[in-house]
Amino acid sequence: MPRLENRIVLISGGASGIGAATARLVAREGGKAVLADRDEARGRALAAELGAAAHFIALDVTQEPSWKAAVAATVAAFGGVHGLLNAAGVGVRNDIETCTLEEYRRVNDINALGTFLGCKSVIAAMREAGGGSIVNISSVLGLRGAAQAMAYSASKGAVRTLTKSVALHCAQMKYNIRCNSVHPGYIDTPMIAPRLDQNVGNMTGRQALEEMHPLGRLGRPEEVAAMILFLLSDESTFSTGSEFVCDGGLTA
Ligand SMILES: NC(=O)c1ccc[n+]([C@@H]2O[C@H](COP(=O)([O-])OP(=O)(O)OC[C@H]3O[C@@H](n4cnc5c(N)ncnc54)[C@H](O)[C@@H]3O)[C@@H](O)[C@H]2O)c1
Repeated sequence: MPRLENRIVLISGGASGIGAATARLVAREGGKAVLADRDEARGRALAAELGAAAHFIALDVTQEPSWKAAVAATVAAFGGVHGLLNAAGVGVRNDIETCTLEEYRRVNDINALGTFLGCKSVIAAMREAGGGSIVNISSVLGLRGAAQAMAYSASKGAVRTLTKSVALHCAQMKYNIRCNSVHPGYIDTPMIAPRLDQNVGNMTGRQALEEMHPLGRLGRPEEVAAMILFLLSDESTFSTGSEFVCDGGLTA
């Protein structure tokens, strides 16, 4: 029995990394994936590969009209929306002294405000569909601080508590909409690629990051997608407002 049969899932950041791996899994499990991303070339290529199970829509998560258009396009393409994955994000290294106001705003606009707009924009259509599941990607750096990723960590902490507030509101309103956050460790995607070849002491960046995880390696996007699939599916119907960590033991 497919785990997402006839479920329609809107995926911000669906063109790459964790969002793309989730889109493949949604299609494999009998669902429809709407890939929403600012990277049109990669998004259209993946949608073409997935065929009738996928649709691409250009989205800038920082713009409310763009979100409204993405939800409307999802309903027009497949007839409704049951799932939302907020996976669009940027990773930036900075500390409290070097980060400019402009950079702090940019990171928080994409990672935190973009997730807020995604949740806000999808609720009415999800209610129309009888309910649904929202999954917001935070990070292990949404659970703790990071001297060298200050703005990123602040944005991911906001995603963590935004998720709980959305979950509580939807529960109080009896919308049958759940909302949970996922907290990956370092996952081998284009986001962290620039760090892997940089030298850290006598190690490559990849070796240094691998050593941070007790399992001794980076995570794969498919491993995070498997956790997201669980949260999108009816296997997780008693989970809302919760944090799901996928980090090879990093925070243990
Ligand atoms: N890779 C990791 O180690 C890691 C760890 C923890 C959390 N995360 C989080 O997982 C999520 C997915 O990251 P990934 O590793 O797959 O990265 P990725 O770079 O492969 O994918 C991110 C996608 O977001 C899109 N995007 C960026 N800004 C956008 C905007 N304004 N509007 C629409 N789309 C936009 C990009 O075009 C890209 O397709 C992010 O939120 C990231 O912060 C990643």
